[in-house]
Amino acid sequence: MSLPKRVKLVEVGPRDGLQNEPTPVATAVKVELIHRLQDAGLKVIEATAFVSPKWVPQMADNAQVMAAIRRKPGVSYPVLVPNRKGLDAALAAGVEEAVVFGAATETFSQKNTNCSIAEGLARFSEVCKEALARGLKVRGDISVCLGCPYEGEVKPEAVVRVARALDEMGCYEITVADTIGVGTPCKARAAFEAVMKHIPAERLAGHFHDTYGQALANTYAALECGVATFDSSVAGLGGCPYAKGATGNVATEDVLYLLNGLGIETGVDIVKLIAAGEYICGVLGRPTHSKAARAITAKSKA
Ligand code: HMG
Ligand code: MG
Repeated sequence: MSLPKRVKLVEVGPRDGLQNEPTPVATAVKVELIHRLQDAGLKVIEATAFVSPKWVPQMADNAQVMAAIRRKPGVSYPVLVPNRKGLDAALAAGVEEAVVFGAATETFSQKNTNCSIAEGLARFSEVCKEALARGLKVRGDISVCLGCPYEGEVKPEAVVRVARALDEMGCYEITVADTIGVGTPCKARAAFEAVMKHIPAERLAGHFHDTYGQALANTYAALECGVATFDSSVAGLGGCPYAKGATGNVATEDVLYLLNGLGIETGVDIVKLIAAGEYICGVLGRPTHSKAARAITAKSKA
């Protein structure tokens, strides 16, 4: 089995990681975190979300974040866009890449975006059309692909239906997300293999939350399928406000340690990445969720 030689890491800490924080995180902290992440070599950093501030107050400073970041050449800063209103605000903020986000189950779609899967796809189609016409790139995320907090088991066919719709509307990359971290490698493989009958692995990404400690195993299963793009969150921050009990994404440091060990290139410096994690954990006043960061830090102090 040959694994990809190079992997693109999509850092989602500033968005997925911070969206669930109960107390406001200062805009300046979000911006400093993004700067540290790009200095560590990350080339794609999900910066914020142009969603309703009533639904996700933590992302209400989206325009301020976009205005304050020092954009580095070669780095992209995708943002979540749920509808036309979000797109207009994102365009006004000079965003160059949008992320539309659907779900594999009806109940999750309703809870997360207050609409059915079909209504969501119709909104995304309008967003994609306008965004592509304005020269933006659009990525498509699919939530609850490996299990749903409301409906339980999710069949790969449900993931395929949404993936094909996102593909048809022009998303350049489609993310298979395990929103609540319940998946195991066989489930991850089944979902990717089903989608890969229609969309090549090079255009797919894995987005694994680590609630049940399966995210690295799922990452490896996806690598074996030929997937070479992974979302992760520095220090393992985060969770989805509409998926109770779900913890953060797999820690970027842990994914990087895995990839480094496999000899897979990423261009990311683990020491600088760990320092970025220490920075945000220091501000939030809690320890990192990254085992690799804890071990490497302990060793360096020994
Ligand atoms: P709605 O309440 O049905 O929308 O929400 P509406 O059109 O009826 O509007 C209600 C109010 O929100 C109005 O304001 C709108 O103007 C405003 P009012 O008239 O009451 O003052 N509004 C907006 N404001 C700013 N930006 C906008 C916007 N849209 C409407 N874009 C909506 C529908 C989709 C907007 C809402 O449900 C929403 O924002 N949902 C987003 C929820 C979210 O961000 N969830 C977390 C991110 S997804 C995730 O974490 C999963 C992922 O990581 C992958 C994985 O792990 O699965 C991506
Ligand atoms: Mg997520």
